[in-house]
Amino acid sequence: MQKTILDLVIEKKAAADKAIEFIESGMIVGLGTGSTVKFFIESLAEKIRDGLIIKTVSTSNATGALSKSLGIEVVELNAVEKIDVTIDGADEVDSQLNGIKGGGGALLYEKIVSSASQKNIWIIDSSKFVKQLGNFPLPVEVVPFGSNHTFTKLVQLGYSPKFRMEDNKNFISDGGHNIIDLKLNKIVYPLKINNELQLIPGVVETGLFLNICDIVIIGRGKECDVIESERLKTD
Ligand code: A5P
Repeated sequence: MQKTILDLVIEKKAAADKAIEFIESGMIVGLGTGSTVKFFIESLAEKIRDGLIIKTVSTSNATGALSKSLGIEVVELNAVEKIDVTIDGADEVDSQLNGIKGGGGALLYEKIVSSASQKNIWIIDSSKFVKQLGNFPLPVEVVPFGSNHTFTKLVQLGYSPKFRMEDNKNFISDGGHNIIDLKLNKIVYPLKINNELQLIPGVVETGLFLNICDIVIIGRGKECDVIESERLKTD
């Protein structure tokens, strides 16, 4: 049976609550962006009120503002040497724990924070765990300078690009960039596509997050599946 939006919200909350189990006092915690992470931030604030002591690094202005409003300490990424664990959402995740992120437009900062993190945990509802990536449009962050030309390059390479819009203008990320979404339908060779896109002048980052996620927590009803990456198992 097709899950309703409410079912998926319940799953997001279940995954977010499960992720709290990975947080311990003394940690520096990276905070992702989006509606699933919002549940995590709210649960984290409760734990802090109960005595948990942590510092956080935010992946977006929205996450930083929400966290501060709930009494969570937010520090700059440059103020810490490393992040112990980052909890983030995702738009699609496959069984290799590769994913597409950036539906909320925070992909660049999310990727920088994930790469500074010793462990990356993603929290998703069950609809996002897919056999093959690509149904969700792949976000590509580009500098506004010459972005029409970057767009043309994408067309020439055979992609179907679309500028992300907000209030009838090009969407602007926290980093001051635009986002071009690529409708790929299926991504057979994610690394090849990622490399090809990264080589285009003007492309800042892609929403392909490959070999980054260590653990995915998938909400299933009110329960969760916790899947570890093979990489983590062989470490
Ligand atoms: C933000 O840019 C994204 O990478 C989010 O992590 C992703 O879009 C998941 O968002 P939701 O939790 O709102 O679905």
